[in-house]
Formats: sequence, C-alpha cells, structure tokens
Amino acid sequence: MKRVPVSLGERSYEVLTGGGLDRAESAAAALRPFVENRHLVVVADAAVAELHAGRLDALLAAQGAAKVTRLTFPAGEASKTLGTLESLYHQAVAAKVDRRAVVAALGGGVTGDLAGFFAASFLRGLPFIQFPTTLLALVDSSVGGKVGVDLPEGKNLVGAFHQPKLVWGELEFLKTLPGREWRCGLGEIVKYGVILDSALFTKLESYTLESLQADTTELSAVVGRCCELKAEVVIQDEHETGLRAILNYGHTFGHAVEVLGGYSKYNHGEGVAIGMGMAADLAVDLGLCTADLPVRQDRLLRRLGLPTHCAGAEFASEAVLDKMGSDKKVLDGKLRLILPRKVGTVEIVAVSARPALLKAIRGRVA
Ligand SMILES: NC(=O)c1ccc[n+]([C@@H]2O[C@H](COP(=O)([O-])OP(=O)(O)OC[C@H]3O[C@@H](n4cnc5c(N)ncnc54)[C@H](O)[C@@H]3O)[C@@H](O)[C@H]2O)c1
Ligand SMILES: [Zn+2]
Repeated sequence: MKRVPVSLGERSYEVLTGGGLDRAESAAAALRPFVENRHLVVVADAAVAELHAGRLDALLAAQGAAKVTRLTFPAGEASKTLGTLESLYHQAVAAKVDRRAVVAALGGGVTGDLAGFFAASFLRGLPFIQFPTTLLALVDSSVGGKVGVDLPEGKNLVGAFHQPKLVWGELEFLKTLPGREWRCGLGEIVKYGVILDSALFTKLESYTLESLQADTTELSAVVGRCCELKAEVVIQDEHETGLRAILNYGHTFGHAVEVLGGYSKYNHGEGVAIGMGMAADLAVDLGLCTADLPVRQDRLLRRLGLPTHCAGAEFASEAVLDKMGSDKKVLDGKLRLILPRKVGTVEIVAVSARPALLKAIRGRVA
C-alpha cells in the first residue's frame, strides 16, 4: 500500500492506493475513525453499485458503521446535474441523514464530483470519503477537493471546494473497468507527464494499456506518482489562484469537444487527449515549444489507444472556440490556456490571437 499525504492544515488527509486495501490493517485503521458508529451515506451510480457496493458494505460493516444508506443515480456524465443533486437531497431527507453522517462517494469522477458537492452542501456540509473506481478518478478527480455539477451551458459551472477526509484508492475496483474507461484515465496520466514529470512521460512510452493492466506493481507505481503530483500542486494552490490551473492542460479545448459531442461522442479523457493536441499545436504556432512535442505526445496517446483528432460537423472551429469562451478559464476577454514549453514544463498563457486558436482547433478536426 502507498500513502500519499495531502497536507492542507486542518483539512489534511491521505490518499491510500494499492490492491486489496480492505485486507490491510493499516488502511482499515485510517478508515475506522470516519466509519465507526456513524451513519454512512454511500452515493454510487447504478452500474457501480451493482458491481462494487457489496464490497464496500462489507468494509463499512467491518469498521463498525452504525447504519448504511445507499443513494443511486443513472451512470454517466448526463447525471452530473442539479436535477440529480436535488433527488439526492430528497432521498437523504427520507433516509433521515443528519449532521453526524459521513458521505462515501463510490465510483468514477462523475460520482466523486456529484457526491462531493452533495456532501459540501447538504445540511451545510458533511464529511466525505472518496472510493474511486475508475482510473481517472484514482489519479485525478478524487484528490484535491474540487466538487460540482454541470449546467447545459458548460461543464463544472456550479461547485465548491470540499476536501475529502480520506481517499481509498482500491486498485481491485479496476478489474471490472471497461477498456474505454482505462484509456480515459491514461489520458489524464499522460497529462501529468507533459505538465510536470518528463520521467513519467518517458516511462509511459514503454507501456501499452495491456502491459499496465497486467502488472499491478507498475500500475500502482504510476497511480501513486500521479497522486503525489496532484497532491503537490493542490498543497501549493488549493483554491486555484495560480499554479493549480496547470492541471487543466488540454481541458479548455477538451471541454468544448465534450460539450459539442453531447457528452457522449467523446468522454472526458478522450476530450482531454484531443484538447492536449490542440494546445500543443498552438504552443508550436506561438513559438513556445518545438514541433516534436505534439508529434511525441500524439505517438504516446495513440499507443495507449486515445484519439488525437475529433471528427464530425459539430466540431467546426468557430463552434469549438465559442464553447471555450463559456469555460471558467476566461479572464478579461482572454483565454487563459496551459501551453507546453517542453515535456514536463508548461506555462499559463493569456491568448487572444483568434486566428491562431482557430488554426490549432481546425488542425485537429478530421
Ligand atoms: N474534481 C476534479 O478535480 C476532476 C478532475 C478530473 C475529472 N473530473 C470529472 O470526472 C468526470 C469523469 O470521470 P470518469 O471518467 O471516472 O466518469 P464516470 O464516473 O462517469 O465513470 C465512467 C463510467 O465507468 C463506469 N464505472 C465506474 N467504475 C467502474 C468499474 N470499476 N467497473 C465498471 N464500470 C465502472 C461508470 O458507471 C460510468 O459509466 C467528469 O465529470 C470530469 O469533469 C473531475
Ligand atoms: Zn480531467
């Protein structure tokens, strides 16, 4: 088991990762204070509940939970809405959830964001624990305390900062994860390599999806490293006043691709992969990095089974740029984008050059 501390004063917590955490006494000891004699409210999408809630129920019972209530919603990004949130509030009232309750988010990033915002807001705030079940949630969304929901106008437009009390990174949950979701998580892992860690990027160049799935030790090392990187950034800039924005590399372009594809054509990691391509091409065009960076990044993304281009009439460059304008990253009419200098180093750049932006988008639409 690997323990990664996220040191944020009184909001500090740990990320535990490994296979079979529920068989490790030291992991159980870290979980027990938030479970023993408490009412646990497990929030999960219906698909994850069916697959993994039984294992979580057994874990919570073994740690002395007084009561467990399960709240479910339909799987998928389309559920990360105010409507689903309201239904969770009503179900929680019916289940007599009180201020001593603890919320357990069991699932991918959609569940973590939704359940986390539920925890941040219900009864003016309940503690919560993240039980990530997707690779993306393990390496990214479960760490850092950003929680929230989407609006029809754009992703993550309503939310809060609410740090979990613990992240329970059980790698065995991934055994049931479909291949497309694995690739999605790998998109975020490549992102960490480009923004912060050239050694990680180089290491990834020797893997395939299959080799990582087959080797828990390697997977554990990669997941642990990503959690460390995320923790380092969050510790320095919890509320994203500066540095934390680098985690959004590829995301402003990628969110636009996700939204225009109706959240179904490309999932989050795929949108990010395409968005990183657009950002890297733009960086070359603006003279920030050399042309081999997008080539190398494309090669790695393709090797891991991720798209580097999008296809479809809905991705006209004007439409993509227009959607990027409704993202949260606009300041004084300029887009604040994360652009690479070299593998392992990025910069936050305010970009207003419309022709260059349109060109970078157009080049990535097949
Ligand atoms: N808060 C943050 O800092 C942050 C960071 C990155 C991404 N996000 C958010 O995360 C979301 C994407 O997360 P995601 O890709 O995990 O999506 P997700 O939660 O929708 O999960 C993807 C799919 O996998 C299924 N699934 C989950 N675990 C499974 C398992 N173990 N076995 C089988 N199926 C399983 C789910 O039912 C779902 O259909 C986006 O909404 C994004 O905005 C948030
Ligand atoms: Zn992301």
